[in-house]
Amino acid sequence: MQTFSTAIEAAHALRPDVPVYCFRPEVLTADAKAFIDAFPGETAYAVKTNGEPMVLETLAKAGVSLFDVASPGEFAAVRAVAPQAGMLYMHPIKAQSDIRLALETYGIRTLSLDHEDEVAKILRVVRALDIDPGTVTLFVRLQTKGHAAYELSRKFGAAPAHAVELLQRCHGIGFKTGLCFHVGSQIEDPETYERALASADWVRNRADVPLAGLDVGGGFPAEYGYDPKRRKPDMPGFSEIMERLRGDLAEWGFADVPLVAEPGRVIVARAFSLIVRVLLRKGRRLYINDGIWASLSDSWTGKITLPARFIPDPARKRRTGDPDKIAAFKVCGATCDSVDILSRPFWLPETVDTGDWIEIGHIGAYSLSLRTRFNGFYPDTFVHVTTPFHEGGGADGYASLETMAD
Ligand SMILES: Cc1ncc(COP(=O)(O)O)c(C=O)c1O
Repeated sequence: MQTFSTAIEAAHALRPDVPVYCFRPEVLTADAKAFIDAFPGETAYAVKTNGEPMVLETLAKAGVSLFDVASPGEFAAVRAVAPQAGMLYMHPIKAQSDIRLALETYGIRTLSLDHEDEVAKILRVVRALDIDPGTVTLFVRLQTKGHAAYELSRKFGAAPAHAVELLQRCHGIGFKTGLCFHVGSQIEDPETYERALASADWVRNRADVPLAGLDVGGGFPAEYGYDPKRRKPDMPGFSEIMERLRGDLAEWGFADVPLVAEPGRVIVARAFSLIVRVLLRKGRRLYINDGIWASLSDSWTGKITLPARFIPDPARKRRTGDPDKIAAFKVCGATCDSVDILSRPFWLPETVDTGDWIEIGHIGAYSLSLRTRFNGFYPDTFVHVTTPFHEGGGADGYASLETMAD
Protein backbone atom coordinates (compact mmCIF):
# COMPACT_ATOMS: atom_id res chain seq x y z
CA MET A 1 0.00 0.00 0.00
CA GLN A 2 1.40 3.39 -0.95
CA THR A 3 1.80 5.94 1.85
CA PHE A 4 0.88 9.63 1.62
CA SER A 5 0.79 12.35 4.17
CA THR A 6 -2.67 13.59 3.12
CA ALA A 7 -5.46 12.68 0.71
CA ILE A 8 -4.65 15.84 -1.25
CA GLU A 9 -1.13 14.53 -1.83
CA ALA A 10 -2.53 11.12 -2.84
CA ALA A 11 -5.05 12.65 -5.28
CA HIS A 12 -2.41 14.85 -6.92
CA ALA A 13 0.06 11.98 -7.26
CA LEU A 14 -2.35 9.25 -8.42
CA ARG A 15 -4.97 11.38 -10.22
CA PRO A 16 -7.39 8.50 -9.54
CA ASP A 17 -10.50 7.85 -11.62
CA VAL A 18 -11.60 5.10 -9.25
CA PRO A 19 -12.57 5.74 -5.61
CA VAL A 20 -9.59 5.44 -3.25
CA TYR A 21 -9.88 4.57 0.44
CA CYS A 22 -7.40 6.40 2.65
CA PHE A 23 -6.62 4.10 5.60
CA ARG A 24 -5.31 5.71 8.79
CA PRO A 25 -4.08 2.89 11.05
CA GLU A 26 -2.64 5.39 13.53
CA VAL A 27 -6.09 6.93 14.01
CA LEU A 28 -7.68 3.47 14.32
CA THR A 29 -5.14 2.49 16.98
CA ALA A 30 -5.72 5.73 18.92
CA ASP A 31 -9.52 5.41 18.80
CA ALA A 32 -9.43 1.74 19.84
CA LYS A 33 -7.10 2.53 22.75
CA ALA A 34 -9.29 5.48 23.80
CA PHE A 35 -12.30 3.16 23.98
CA ILE A 36 -10.47 0.41 25.83
CA ASP A 37 -9.16 2.94 28.38
CA ALA A 38 -12.53 4.60 28.94
CA PHE A 39 -14.81 1.55 29.14
CA PRO A 40 -14.85 -0.22 32.53
CA GLY A 41 -15.03 -3.73 31.07
CA GLU A 42 -13.99 -5.76 28.04
CA THR A 43 -14.08 -4.31 24.54
CA ALA A 44 -15.38 -6.64 21.82
CA TYR A 45 -15.03 -4.91 18.45
CA ALA A 46 -18.12 -5.44 16.25
CA VAL A 47 -16.65 -7.01 13.12
CA LYS A 48 -19.69 -6.18 10.97
CA THR A 49 -18.74 -2.50 11.11
CA ASN A 50 -15.61 -3.07 9.06
CA GLY A 51 -14.11 -6.55 8.80
CA GLU A 52 -11.25 -5.77 6.43
CA PRO A 53 -8.14 -7.79 7.39
CA MET A 54 -6.12 -4.56 7.70
CA VAL A 55 -8.63 -3.29 10.29
CA LEU A 56 -8.78 -6.50 12.34
CA GLU A 57 -5.01 -6.81 12.29
CA THR A 58 -4.49 -3.22 13.43
CA LEU A 59 -7.04 -3.66 16.21
CA ALA A 60 -5.43 -6.89 17.42
CA LYS A 61 -2.08 -5.08 17.57
CA ALA A 62 -3.73 -2.17 19.43
CA GLY A 63 -4.82 -4.59 22.18
CA VAL A 64 -8.32 -5.65 21.13
CA SER A 65 -8.51 -9.32 22.11
CA LEU A 66 -12.25 -9.90 21.85
CA PHE A 67 -14.50 -9.63 18.79
CA ASP A 68 -18.28 -9.54 18.36
CA VAL A 69 -19.07 -11.84 15.42
CA ALA A 70 -22.33 -12.68 13.67
CA SER A 71 -21.60 -15.19 10.89
CA PRO A 72 -19.21 -17.90 9.68
CA GLY A 73 -17.51 -15.29 7.47
CA GLU A 74 -16.78 -13.16 10.53
CA PHE A 75 -15.54 -16.16 12.59
CA ALA A 76 -13.07 -16.94 9.81
CA ALA A 77 -11.99 -13.30 9.34
CA VAL A 78 -11.08 -12.96 13.04
CA ARG A 79 -9.39 -16.36 13.26
CA ALA A 80 -7.28 -15.56 10.17
CA VAL A 81 -5.66 -12.46 11.67
CA ALA A 82 -5.98 -12.96 15.43
CA PRO A 83 -5.91 -16.72 16.19
CA GLN A 84 -5.76 -16.18 19.96
CA ALA A 85 -8.62 -13.68 20.13
CA GLY A 86 -11.91 -14.50 21.84
CA MET A 87 -15.20 -14.31 19.94
CA LEU A 88 -18.70 -13.51 21.16
CA TYR A 89 -21.44 -14.78 18.85
CA MET A 90 -23.95 -12.00 19.48
CA HIS A 91 -26.40 -12.45 16.63
CA PRO A 92 -29.68 -13.31 18.40
CA ILE A 93 -31.03 -15.43 15.51
CA LYS A 94 -28.72 -18.07 14.14
CA ALA A 95 -28.80 -21.04 11.79
CA GLN A 96 -28.35 -24.30 13.70
CA SER A 97 -25.46 -25.23 11.39
CA ASP A 98 -23.74 -21.92 12.25
CA ILE A 99 -24.19 -22.58 15.99
CA ARG A 100 -22.53 -25.95 15.52
CA LEU A 101 -19.67 -24.39 13.54
CA ALA A 102 -19.20 -21.75 16.24
CA LEU A 103 -19.09 -24.24 19.11
CA GLU A 104 -17.30 -27.11 17.41
CA THR A 105 -14.80 -25.53 15.04
CA TYR A 106 -14.20 -22.10 16.59
CA GLY A 107 -14.59 -22.98 20.29
CA ILE A 108 -16.99 -20.07 20.85
CA ARG A 109 -18.71 -20.28 24.23
CA THR A 110 -20.67 -17.01 24.42
CA LEU A 111 -23.86 -16.51 22.40
CA SER A 112 -26.90 -14.25 22.52
CA LEU A 113 -30.59 -14.98 21.96
CA ASP A 114 -34.03 -13.44 22.38
CA HIS A 115 -36.36 -16.44 22.03
CA GLU A 116 -36.86 -19.89 23.57
CA ASP A 117 -36.53 -21.64 20.18
CA GLU A 118 -32.99 -20.29 20.03
CA VAL A 119 -32.29 -21.82 23.47
CA ALA A 120 -33.54 -25.15 22.06
CA LYS A 121 -31.26 -24.86 18.99
CA ILE A 122 -28.21 -24.14 21.14
CA LEU A 123 -29.08 -26.91 23.59
CA ARG A 124 -29.39 -29.43 20.75
CA VAL A 125 -25.87 -28.60 19.55
CA VAL A 126 -24.44 -28.52 23.09
CA ARG A 127 -25.88 -32.01 23.75
CA ALA A 128 -24.76 -33.38 20.37
CA LEU A 129 -21.21 -32.18 21.03
CA ASP A 130 -21.30 -33.31 24.65
CA ILE A 131 -20.40 -29.83 25.93
CA ASP A 132 -21.06 -28.98 29.59
CA PRO A 133 -23.74 -26.18 29.53
CA GLY A 134 -21.95 -24.66 32.54
CA THR A 135 -19.09 -23.66 30.20
CA VAL A 136 -21.44 -21.75 27.87
CA THR A 137 -22.74 -18.23 28.58
CA LEU A 138 -26.03 -17.22 27.00
CA PHE A 139 -26.76 -13.50 26.90
CA VAL A 140 -30.46 -12.69 26.71
CA ARG A 141 -30.96 -9.69 24.45
CA LEU A 142 -33.29 -7.13 25.90
CA GLN A 143 -35.38 -4.73 23.82
CA THR A 144 -34.61 -1.07 24.48
CA LYS A 145 -36.10 2.28 23.55
CA GLY A 146 -34.03 5.22 22.39
CA HIS A 147 -33.14 7.53 19.56
CA ALA A 148 -30.44 6.44 17.17
CA ALA A 149 -29.62 6.80 13.48
CA TYR A 150 -30.35 3.07 13.28
CA GLU A 151 -32.95 1.57 15.62
CA LEU A 152 -32.31 -2.11 16.27
CA SER A 153 -35.00 -2.94 18.83
CA ARG A 154 -37.69 -3.11 16.15
CA LYS A 155 -35.95 -6.25 14.93
CA PHE A 156 -34.31 -7.88 17.95
CA GLY A 157 -34.70 -8.15 21.68
CA ALA A 158 -37.10 -9.70 24.18
CA ALA A 159 -39.55 -7.52 26.10
CA PRO A 160 -38.55 -7.30 29.80
CA ALA A 161 -41.02 -9.93 31.12
CA HIS A 162 -40.01 -12.32 28.35
CA ALA A 163 -36.31 -11.70 29.11
CA VAL A 164 -37.00 -12.74 32.75
CA GLU A 165 -38.44 -16.07 31.54
CA LEU A 166 -35.53 -16.64 29.15
CA LEU A 167 -32.92 -15.98 31.85
CA GLN A 168 -34.66 -18.43 34.18
CA ARG A 169 -34.98 -21.06 31.46
CA CYS A 170 -31.27 -20.80 30.51
CA HIS A 171 -30.23 -20.89 34.17
CA GLY A 172 -32.52 -23.88 34.80
CA ILE A 173 -30.76 -25.87 32.06
CA GLY A 174 -27.38 -25.09 33.57
CA PHE A 175 -26.05 -22.40 31.23
CA LYS A 176 -24.34 -19.33 32.61
CA THR A 177 -26.52 -16.32 31.91
CA GLY A 178 -25.97 -12.71 30.97
CA LEU A 179 -28.01 -9.75 29.78
CA CYS A 180 -27.27 -7.71 26.69
CA PHE A 181 -28.85 -4.92 24.70
CA HIS A 182 -28.07 -2.77 21.71
CA VAL A 183 -29.45 0.72 21.99
CA GLY A 184 -29.19 1.37 18.22
CA SER A 185 -26.26 2.56 16.16
CA GLN A 186 -25.12 6.20 16.45
CA ILE A 187 -27.28 7.15 19.43
CA GLU A 188 -28.90 10.57 19.30
CA ASP A 189 -29.97 10.82 22.93
CA PRO A 190 -27.45 10.66 25.81
CA GLU A 191 -30.08 9.18 28.19
CA THR A 192 -30.36 6.06 26.03
CA TYR A 193 -27.94 3.88 28.01
CA GLU A 194 -29.47 4.84 31.32
CA ARG A 195 -32.94 3.77 30.15
CA ALA A 196 -31.54 0.43 28.97
CA LEU A 197 -29.74 -0.09 32.29
CA ALA A 198 -32.92 0.66 34.24
CA SER A 199 -34.70 -1.99 32.21
CA ALA A 200 -31.82 -4.48 32.67
CA ASP A 201 -32.01 -3.85 36.43
CA TRP A 202 -35.76 -4.58 36.42
CA VAL A 203 -35.17 -7.86 34.55
CA ARG A 204 -32.28 -8.90 36.80
CA ASN A 205 -34.33 -8.33 39.96
CA ARG A 206 -37.31 -10.32 38.70
CA ALA A 207 -35.24 -13.17 37.23
CA ASP A 208 -33.20 -13.63 40.39
CA VAL A 209 -30.51 -15.76 38.72
CA PRO A 210 -26.73 -15.18 38.91
CA LEU A 211 -25.61 -12.78 36.18
CA ALA A 212 -22.30 -13.75 34.56
CA GLY A 213 -22.15 -10.58 32.51
CA LEU A 214 -23.79 -7.46 31.16
CA ASP A 215 -23.11 -6.51 27.56
CA VAL A 216 -24.02 -2.90 26.76
CA GLY A 217 -23.66 -3.39 22.99
CA GLY A 218 -22.64 -0.64 20.60
CA GLY A 219 -24.28 2.66 19.74
CA PHE A 220 -21.46 4.94 20.88
CA PRO A 221 -21.65 7.83 18.42
CA ALA A 222 -18.82 8.59 16.02
CA GLU A 223 -17.88 12.12 15.04
CA TYR A 224 -19.46 13.18 11.75
CA GLY A 225 -20.38 16.47 10.09
CA TYR A 226 -23.78 18.10 10.23
CA ASP A 227 -26.04 19.87 7.82
CA PRO A 228 -25.59 23.64 8.36
CA LYS A 229 -29.26 24.22 7.46
CA ARG A 230 -30.36 22.13 10.43
CA ARG A 231 -29.89 22.61 14.15
CA LYS A 232 -26.57 21.19 15.33
CA PRO A 233 -27.32 17.91 17.16
CA ASP A 234 -27.07 18.50 20.87
CA MET A 235 -25.00 15.41 21.68
CA PRO A 236 -22.19 15.30 24.23
CA GLY A 237 -18.80 14.02 23.06
CA PHE A 238 -17.42 10.52 23.60
CA SER A 239 -15.73 11.20 26.95
CA GLU A 240 -18.89 12.68 28.45
CA ILE A 241 -21.03 9.79 27.20
CA MET A 242 -18.56 7.34 28.72
CA GLU A 243 -18.46 9.25 32.00
CA ARG A 244 -22.25 9.18 32.18
CA LEU A 245 -22.28 5.46 31.36
CA ARG A 246 -19.79 4.73 34.14
CA GLY A 247 -21.96 6.72 36.57
CA ASP A 248 -25.15 4.97 35.40
CA LEU A 249 -23.55 1.53 35.72
CA ALA A 250 -22.62 2.31 39.31
CA GLU A 251 -26.00 3.85 40.08
CA TRP A 252 -27.93 0.82 38.76
CA GLY A 253 -25.68 -1.60 40.64
CA PHE A 254 -23.86 -3.09 37.65
CA ALA A 255 -20.36 -1.95 38.60
CA ASP A 256 -19.48 -5.38 40.01
CA VAL A 257 -20.95 -7.40 37.12
CA PRO A 258 -18.40 -8.35 34.41
CA LEU A 259 -19.05 -5.85 31.61
CA VAL A 260 -18.61 -6.04 27.85
CA ALA A 261 -19.21 -3.47 25.11
CA GLU A 262 -19.44 -4.13 21.36
CA PRO A 263 -18.37 -0.84 19.80
CA GLY A 264 -18.04 -0.57 16.04
CA ARG A 265 -18.69 2.84 14.58
CA VAL A 266 -16.93 4.87 17.28
CA ILE A 267 -13.73 2.84 16.81
CA VAL A 268 -13.46 2.66 13.04
CA ALA A 269 -15.33 5.64 11.53
CA ARG A 270 -12.38 8.06 11.60
CA ALA A 271 -9.91 5.47 10.31
CA PHE A 272 -10.92 5.82 6.65
CA SER A 273 -11.75 8.57 4.25
CA LEU A 274 -12.58 8.18 0.59
CA ILE A 275 -11.33 10.13 -2.39
CA VAL A 276 -14.03 10.31 -5.08
CA ARG A 277 -13.80 12.01 -8.43
CA VAL A 278 -16.40 14.30 -9.97
CA LEU A 279 -17.16 12.59 -13.27
CA LEU A 280 -19.46 15.39 -14.35
CA ARG A 281 -20.85 18.63 -13.02
CA LYS A 282 -24.31 19.40 -14.35
CA GLY A 283 -25.52 22.69 -12.86
CA ARG A 284 -25.76 22.10 -9.11
CA ARG A 285 -25.46 18.33 -9.52
CA LEU A 286 -22.25 16.38 -9.15
CA TYR A 287 -22.00 12.88 -10.63
CA ILE A 288 -19.30 11.01 -8.73
CA ASN A 289 -17.62 7.61 -9.11
CA ASP A 290 -19.05 6.10 -5.89
CA GLY A 291 -22.52 6.09 -4.34
CA ILE A 292 -25.13 4.38 -2.21
CA TRP A 293 -24.54 0.91 -3.70
CA ALA A 294 -20.87 1.18 -2.80
CA SER A 295 -19.28 3.24 0.00
CA LEU A 296 -22.08 5.69 0.77
CA SER A 297 -25.06 3.56 1.77
CA ASP A 298 -24.56 4.06 5.51
CA SER A 299 -24.78 7.83 5.20
CA TRP A 300 -27.87 7.43 3.03
CA THR A 301 -29.88 5.00 5.16
CA GLY A 302 -28.73 6.38 8.49
CA LYS A 303 -29.13 10.00 7.32
CA ILE A 304 -25.59 10.60 8.41
CA THR A 305 -23.83 13.72 7.18
CA LEU A 306 -20.18 13.12 6.41
CA PRO A 307 -17.55 15.84 6.41
CA ALA A 308 -16.10 16.57 2.96
CA ARG A 309 -13.03 18.32 1.59
CA PHE A 310 -12.68 19.77 -1.88
CA ILE A 311 -9.53 18.78 -3.81
CA PRO A 312 -9.45 20.84 -7.00
CA ASP A 313 -7.66 19.40 -10.02
CA PRO A 314 -4.60 21.65 -10.53
CA ALA A 315 -4.74 20.83 -14.26
CA ARG A 316 -8.02 22.77 -14.67
CA LYS A 317 -7.09 26.31 -15.66
CA ARG A 318 -10.52 27.94 -15.96
CA ARG A 319 -13.18 27.95 -13.32
CA THR A 320 -16.44 29.79 -12.83
CA GLY A 321 -17.97 30.89 -9.55
CA ASP A 322 -16.61 32.31 -6.33
CA PRO A 323 -13.98 30.03 -4.72
CA ASP A 324 -14.85 31.42 -1.29
CA LYS A 325 -18.55 30.75 -1.61
CA ILE A 326 -19.74 27.40 -0.33
CA ALA A 327 -22.79 26.04 -2.13
CA ALA A 328 -24.95 22.94 -1.83
CA PHE A 329 -24.59 20.29 -4.54
CA LYS A 330 -26.81 17.29 -5.07
CA VAL A 331 -24.59 14.22 -5.35
CA CYS A 332 -25.45 11.41 -7.76
CA GLY A 333 -23.72 8.02 -7.53
CA ALA A 334 -21.88 6.00 -10.14
CA THR A 335 -24.56 3.44 -11.01
CA CYS A 336 -27.36 3.75 -13.57
CA ASP A 337 -29.97 3.50 -10.80
CA SER A 338 -31.91 6.67 -10.00
CA VAL A 339 -32.13 5.62 -6.33
CA ASP A 340 -28.39 6.24 -6.28
CA ILE A 341 -28.65 9.91 -5.26
CA LEU A 342 -27.55 11.03 -1.79
CA SER A 343 -30.31 12.32 0.47
CA ARG A 344 -28.14 15.15 1.82
CA PRO A 345 -26.24 17.67 -0.28
CA PHE A 346 -22.49 18.14 -0.23
CA TRP A 347 -21.44 21.68 0.61
CA LEU A 348 -18.44 22.62 -1.51
CA PRO A 349 -16.86 25.73 -3.06
CA GLU A 350 -18.95 27.02 -5.97
CA THR A 351 -16.02 26.38 -8.31
CA VAL A 352 -16.10 22.58 -8.01
CA ASP A 353 -16.14 21.04 -11.49
CA THR A 354 -15.72 17.96 -13.64
CA GLY A 355 -12.41 16.19 -12.89
CA ASP A 356 -12.03 17.52 -9.32
CA TRP A 357 -11.84 15.23 -6.30
CA ILE A 358 -13.69 15.25 -3.01
CA GLU A 359 -12.34 13.62 0.11
CA ILE A 360 -15.21 12.24 2.17
CA GLY A 361 -14.13 11.84 5.77
CA HIS A 362 -14.98 9.50 8.65
CA ILE A 363 -16.29 6.79 6.36
CA GLY A 364 -14.73 3.75 8.04
CA ALA A 365 -17.95 2.35 9.56
CA TYR A 366 -20.45 0.36 7.47
CA SER A 367 -19.07 1.66 4.18
CA LEU A 368 -16.57 -0.95 3.07
CA SER A 369 -18.68 -3.74 4.57
CA LEU A 370 -21.82 -2.62 2.73
CA ARG A 371 -20.35 -2.13 -0.74
CA THR A 372 -21.95 -4.12 -3.54
CA ARG A 373 -20.82 -5.07 -7.04
CA PHE A 374 -23.96 -3.58 -8.55
CA ASN A 375 -23.44 -2.38 -12.10
CA GLY A 376 -19.86 -3.65 -12.03
CA PHE A 377 -18.57 -0.92 -9.71
CA TYR A 378 -16.63 -2.10 -6.64
CA PRO A 379 -14.25 0.35 -4.96
CA ASP A 380 -11.24 -1.60 -3.70
CA THR A 381 -8.19 0.66 -3.94
CA PHE A 382 -6.40 1.58 -0.72
CA VAL A 383 -3.64 3.97 0.30
CA HIS A 384 -2.14 4.63 3.71
CA VAL A 385 -2.56 8.24 4.87
CA THR A 386 -0.66 9.41 7.93
CA THR A 387 -2.49 12.65 8.79
CA PRO A 388 -5.94 12.54 10.46
CA PHE A 389 -8.76 13.85 8.26
CA HIS A 390 -9.34 17.03 10.26
CA GLU A 391 -5.67 17.99 10.07
CA GLY A 392 -5.40 17.13 6.39
CA GLY A 393 -5.13 20.64 4.91
CA GLY A 394 -7.77 23.07 3.83
CA ALA A 395 -6.14 25.86 1.84
CA ASP A 396 -7.68 24.65 -1.41
CA GLY A 397 -11.23 24.95 -0.16
CA TYR A 398 -11.94 23.11 3.03
CA ALA A 399 -15.60 22.14 2.99
CA SER A 400 -15.99 20.76 6.47
CA LEU A 401 -19.63 21.10 7.36
CA GLU A 402 -18.72 21.96 10.92
CA THR A 403 -16.64 24.94 9.85
CA MET A 404 -19.33 26.21 7.53
CA ALA A 405 -21.95 26.74 10.17
CA ASP A 406 -19.81 29.34 12.01
C1 LIG B 1 -25.11 -6.92 17.95
C2 LIG B 1 -24.38 -5.69 17.55
N1 LIG B 1 -23.29 -5.32 18.28
C3 LIG B 1 -22.57 -4.23 17.96
C4 LIG B 1 -22.89 -3.43 16.89
C5 LIG B 1 -22.04 -2.22 16.60
O1 LIG B 1 -22.75 -1.07 16.85
P1 LIG B 1 -22.10 0.37 16.66
O2 LIG B 1 -21.48 0.43 15.32
O3 LIG B 1 -23.26 1.30 16.83
O4 LIG B 1 -21.10 0.57 17.74
C6 LIG B 1 -24.04 -3.75 16.11
C7 LIG B 1 -24.44 -2.91 14.98
O5 LIG B 1 -25.45 -3.05 14.35
C8 LIG B 1 -24.79 -4.92 16.45
O6 LIG B 1 -25.87 -5.29 15.73
